Amino acid sequence: MVKVAILGASGGVGQPLSLLLKLSPYVSELALYDIRAAEGIGKDLSHINTNSNCVGYDKDSIESSLTNAQVVLIPAGVPRKPGLTRDDLFKMNAGIVKSLVTAVGNFAPNARILVISNPVNSLVPIAVETLKKMGKFKPGNVMGVTNLDLVRAETFLVDYLMLKDPKVGQEQDKTTMHKKVTVIGGHSGETIIPIITDKSLVFQLDRQYEHFIHRVQFGGDEIVKAKQGAGSATLSMAFAGAKFAEEVLRSFHNEKPETESLSAFVYLPGLKNGKRAQQLVADNSIEYFSLPIVLQNGSIASIDTSILENLSPREEQLVDTAVKELHKNIQKGKSFILDSS
Ligand code: NAI
Repeated sequence: MVKVAILGASGGVGQPLSLLLKLSPYVSELALYDIRAAEGIGKDLSHINTNSNCVGYDKDSIESSLTNAQVVLIPAGVPRKPGLTRDDLFKMNAGIVKSLVTAVGNFAPNARILVISNPVNSLVPIAVETLKKMGKFKPGNVMGVTNLDLVRAETFLVDYLMLKDPKVGQEQDKTTMHKKVTVIGGHSGETIIPIITDKSLVFQLDRQYEHFIHRVQFGGDEIVKAKQGAGSATLSMAFAGAKFAEEVLRSFHNEKPETESLSAFVYLPGLKNGKRAQQLVADNSIEYFSLPIVLQNGSIASIDTSILENLSPREEQLVDTAVKELHKNIQKGKSFILDSS
């Protein structure tokens, strides 16, 4: 059984994420940490009659929350508001993630770290460089959570198929669309690259294909706008984050993943990956990319790069655009750690 810690557990994402993980049969202990209100939230969830033990920790108790944790989720930080991009959050969230990852390095050095806070494209490099500096970095243990992009792609693909031809749309099951679509690249705007693996659906979408790509890339903006200043995705993020965490937890028990083509934003050098990913790194000197992962015992055992082998010219174009932006985002994160003493 596995102890899971959530850092930032009192927030809009943190609370429903904590609830969903309290329901997970794979969790034996759920530690909820935040700089505010986590003790009360832990007490509240502890009354639920699932078998995990749930405890909330106040701001001075991070060590206790992390001790023996095998999986740590980090949704701590400031969310987007109208007019703010994920990258604008960098200044506020970079320091928070650096300090939390330092604590993980000190108190739970073998934990798998799942970074939810934005901008993922820059904060994952911050997590990696922080751990490298401490001599605690294990390549398979740090994952940027991009699963909301896949969840959205599955939903939107069916929506657009319905628009194009209600008969074709009705044949689709949103919950199994991960067999037909995956999302790679990064986690902001044009760095998000939806790839429809069932190419007959691209044909069926016809002119809706471009709308589909755009909506997956900028779907987060719809929520920021609709919430009118009250934040960004929280409930759908909690769902996507809990789904992702459950796949990590299932892999401790050697259980087959439920989601095909589950991706994460990862540090590529040091991970077992195919020729095409090595080429991606070499051609673009890009060290991080979101790609389908193979999990084993909670860590990334290898990267599945087969998706990169058969890209259409349009998809290649999306990769080129994404790489240019990712370069800047990654460098920004690395510099934050490497340029500080
Ligand atoms: P929120 O403001 O509701 O919650 C953030 C929580 O973090 C608060 O409870 C706050 O007290 C806590 N916090 C701040 N500093 C902390 C520290 N040093 N240690 C522990 N806790 C700390 O924000 P929300 O809506 O929950 O979003 C959280 C993050 O998740 C944001 O960065 C947001 O952009 C990101 N996000 C990521 C998504 C993804 O797909 N990866 C999707 C949606 C949101």
